[in-house]
Amino acid sequence: VKRIGVLTSGGDAPGMNAAVRAVVRTAVNRGIECIGIRRGWNGLINHDFVPMDSNSVSHIIDKGGTMLYTARSEAFMTPEGREKAIATCKLLGLDGIVAIGGDGTFRGALALSRQVAQQGETLQMVGVPATIDNDVGCSNYTIGFDTACNTAIECVDKLRDTMQSHERCSVVEVMGRRAGYLALYVGISVGATAVLIPERPVDFDRDVVEKIRQARLSGTTHYMVVVAEGAGSAVDIGKRIHEELGIDPRVTVLGHIQRGGSPSARDRETASRMGYEAVQSLAEGRGNRIICTQDGKVVDLDMEEALAMTKVFDMERYRVLEATTTGAGD
Ligand code: F6P
Repeated sequence: VKRIGVLTSGGDAPGMNAAVRAVVRTAVNRGIECIGIRRGWNGLINHDFVPMDSNSVSHIIDKGGTMLYTARSEAFMTPEGREKAIATCKLLGLDGIVAIGGDGTFRGALALSRQVAQQGETLQMVGVPATIDNDVGCSNYTIGFDTACNTAIECVDKLRDTMQSHERCSVVEVMGRRAGYLALYVGISVGATAVLIPERPVDFDRDVVEKIRQARLSGTTHYMVVVAEGAGSAVDIGKRIHEELGIDPRVTVLGHIQRGGSPSARDRETASRMGYEAVQSLAEGRGNRIICTQDGKVVDLDMEEALAMTKVFDMERYRVLEATTTGAGD
């Protein structure tokens, strides 16, 4: 392996920069040249790339966002778009690519690799999971999740101060279109009155009305409802609370604030380990892998098998949430 590319794709996540840095530094230390591909897969289609060395990734380990920019590429989803990308890979003489992102990014990587294989050639892909949703099936953990949790918790703690003074109900929407990990962790950590996640069918009476009633009976005068965006809209839930309980909730959608900020220790450390492992895989001839964490260890799995894996609903944490938030204030 002489030359590899690195890119970030999909929604950004704090720690992506730390992963890019680890990829570049590990490659350079092994005598492998590294090209930064900008704006996700679009960079390969549009000839948007930059040669990288150790210095080009200085002073980014603590920065949120991604210095390589990111995008969700429609063009790359078509064979014609990928053909343009293949031409760029050939022009650059790339032996492999480290793609940092979520499931969609890895599906794109696999499609590209297969298209190259159909032409009798090889382009090795390695995926590094990074998304604040923590929803990559094969990996216990995705880069960015911890920072996003901490950001959301800080916001909810602030909201609680004012909700407590005014004896109000707050409905907070956190990100997570298909996954409720962020809502679940935040709900446990702030002592939410109720938490709604896409993995569990919502029964409004049982999951919201009854929870607020119980909290009210126990003497609490402020309530915190946390909803994952995939489980419903906080605005609608606020309206229903008003209709059914006669209280006047305040609604906050945390939105993209959860995607920014300086990465936490956990995200910097995990990103560094995953970025290192990604280059090791390529250098040792193991292509088409996804770097995962399993039981605290960083491992690489076959990309196709890893993409077929789904996460088992986190029942243990859900039980903790149920046991610690029912029937009283935070
Ligand atoms: O995939 C991460 C995520 O933040 C989701 O939680 C959210 O639904 C989505 O990205 C928002 O994407 P966009 O950046 O396109 O608004």
